[in-house]
Amino acid sequence: MKIAHSLAEYAALRSALDGPTAPRVAYVPTMGALHEGHRSLIKLAKTRGDMIVVSIFVNPLQFGPNEDYARYPRPLEDDLQVCAADGVDIVLVPSVTELYPAGRQVTVDAGALGSVLEGHSRPGHFNGVLTVVLKLFNIIRPQVAVFGEKDAQQLACIQRMVIDFNLAVEIVGAPIVREPDGLALSSRNVFLSASERAVARSLSAALEKAATQGSVRSARAAAYEVLDRAEAEPCFELDYATIVNPATFAEVPDDHVGLAVFVVAARVGGTRLIDNTTINFTPAPWG
Ligand code: PAJ
Repeated sequence: MKIAHSLAEYAALRSALDGPTAPRVAYVPTMGALHEGHRSLIKLAKTRGDMIVVSIFVNPLQFGPNEDYARYPRPLEDDLQVCAADGVDIVLVPSVTELYPAGRQVTVDAGALGSVLEGHSRPGHFNGVLTVVLKLFNIIRPQVAVFGEKDAQQLACIQRMVIDFNLAVEIVGAPIVREPDGLALSSRNVFLSASERAVARSLSAALEKAATQGSVRSARAAAYEVLDRAEAEPCFELDYATIVNPATFAEVPDDHVGLAVFVVAARVGGTRLIDNTTINFTPAPWG
């Protein structure tokens, strides 16, 4: 496995791959603190490409001023071991100063899709995500890139950017990897105390209950039954729980039929957690 710490080092490795028998480069962007969720993306990438590139970069542009950029976990040595064990070919670990040199000005605007829900709670977040992902696509030059459905709105923003900017990268979504009790894996789960960890389960529990319902109205009611109980705990503060169109993230009407995504976000102690599930709503038998 090759590790590139600078863009020049990566460019040299990448240009050696150009030519008539060029391998298909499959790319997994990450912020490190790799867990089984990230590993599932690497595994999926291996079925889509011949060369696997992972980047590890905690992107300051996507963190708000009062967010956890400084305390975000950075276990680089462990991460490199995970990548080596999983058969990654190249890991890019760029520096903040090289990706964001003084004088930079132009950023990507995620539009309306980037300003609702996560974008509303974290202003500028998706502009920061899209800016770094566009830069990394240009640097890495992959044919295919894998993103987790865990961050459903991020995945939708990236798919939108690829269409709107005519990017020649195929975007592949990977299913959410969960703990045995349902909690979605996240690099931020390490911040949860034992009691917060127990309450955090309510997010996936609410989604599980919602997913067994036939209508938007009953799915919402089922989820809120669980979330209302969680909100009785002082450490749990719900941000949003809403059922949206998978492409636009606009709320669906009560009589919606077909696919929709139930997205939920909450603060548990000092930690912000998100989760989602896709539900296929069927027409009422009498309708
Ligand atoms: P990060 O949070 O490190 O996540 C990297 C990728 O792993 C994302 O595509 C995310 O959706 C996926 N992922 C995280 N937890 C997952 C889980 N439990 N199951 C499946 N996939 C999971 O997302 C980012 O970094 C950044 O915003 C990035 C795209 C790298 C841009 O900075």
